[in-house]
Amino acid sequence: MHATTPLPDEKAAAYDQLEASLRALLDGERDLIANAANLAALLYWSLPQLNWAGLYLVEPQHGDLLLGPFQGRPACVRIPMGRGVCGTAAERRATVVVADVHAFPGHIACDSASNSEIVVPIVRDGQLLGVLDLDSPVHGRFDAEDARGLERLVRAFVASLG
Ligand code: SME
Repeated sequence: MHATTPLPDEKAAAYDQLEASLRALLDGERDLIANAANLAALLYWSLPQLNWAGLYLVEPQHGDLLLGPFQGRPACVRIPMGRGVCGTAAERRATVVVADVHAFPGHIACDSASNSEIVVPIVRDGQLLGVLDLDSPVHGRFDAEDARGLERLVRAFVASLG
């Protein structure tokens, strides 16, 4: 059983703790879907003020982003590269932080409760595997510290795949 320990208020310390939890959770398993599922669940149940946490994975046949493991309400299944916040982060291979999704051109609304969003690309050996997407009902929920912390967690996730 995995118990989610309450996180410290200070973000850098919270991400330190989350990274240690993630590494323990993924230790000994290399399966992409299993580890993605636990990454999404750990984040959703640990970080405050989220209404969605999950992954979109590159679907090799069409190159779209395809819905992967997540926690939250049912979501859009397929996102073309370059579309929405997810497709933008995937195309740029750079983290995108959106303080107000309603002001982001081309934002894809999956859950009307979402007001801010962060998307982190997942790259392994120079190849884009997908993106990690977190949504919040709170405007401006994510900042540069969240970007740095989540990028660290994504690196730990990629390392777990071997
Ligand atoms: N809002 C995202 C779509 C995915 S959902 O938020 C789960 C986007 O614009 O890419």
